[in-house]
Amino acid sequence: MPHATSLTFRVATPSDEDVNATLKLVRSAYRGETSRTGWTTEADLLADERIDAAGLRAKIEEPQGVVLLAHDDAGALASCCEILRRDDELAYFGMFAVDPLRQAGGIGRQVLAEAEDYARRVFGVKKMEMSVIWTRDELISWYIRRGYTKTDETRPFPYHGLVNGKALRDDLYFSILVKDLSLR
Ligand SMILES: CC(C)(COP(=O)(O)OP(=O)(O)OC[C@H]1O[C@@H](n2cnc3c(N)ncnc32)[C@H](O)[C@@H]1OP(=O)(O)O)[C@@H](O)C(=O)NCCC(=O)NCCS
Repeated sequence: MPHATSLTFRVATPSDEDVNATLKLVRSAYRGETSRTGWTTEADLLADERIDAAGLRAKIEEPQGVVLLAHDDAGALASCCEILRRDDELAYFGMFAVDPLRQAGGIGRQVLAEAEDYARRVFGVKKMEMSVIWTRDELISWYIRRGYTKTDETRPFPYHGLVNGKALRDDLYFSILVKDLSLR
């Protein structure tokens, strides 16, 4: 594995600069041809843009949540994620993306650890949950190696929330993974 990149973390603002850079990153990592450069992608499941500027701004401005950005030494956006406080006990982790050209180098691992630390420190929660499309075994295994447990809970896939595109399968749903944040 290449030497881990040194990252600077900060909370995203609703500025055009943050919104545009984050939108580009998320769209390139999840779906479409660029996402295939990474080791895990939704390109075979969904052909849409994942999120639009209004949806992203809503996450950035969400009073109960933050979008966390990780920049590299050169000031380029390398990764992002969303952390949402559900209640006193639980936070939700989502919109996790690493630049496809820089995946598998340890950035994702650092960002997930930072997000867990943020949830513990700032939101004071004890647990983190996330939703992963059930077919993504390689990604679920990655989260299990990071201390998550796959629960029996499932949630419907938001087929009506797709952005400028369509689903390529009609059997999608989310599996819910949870981690006890007191176990580091
Ligand atoms: C998931 C994601 C954020 C991980 O970021 P990353 O920077 O690649 O993560 P890391 O470099 O820390 O870890 C890479 C892991 O992939 C593993 N890996 C590399 N190539 C792989 C392959 N072909 N198949 C399976 N695992 C592979 C590595 O072994 C490593 O796991 P380990 O640390 O347990 O050994 C990134 O791949 C991404 O943006 N994916 C697209 C968007 C997405 O799916 N987000 C999550 C939605 S829930």
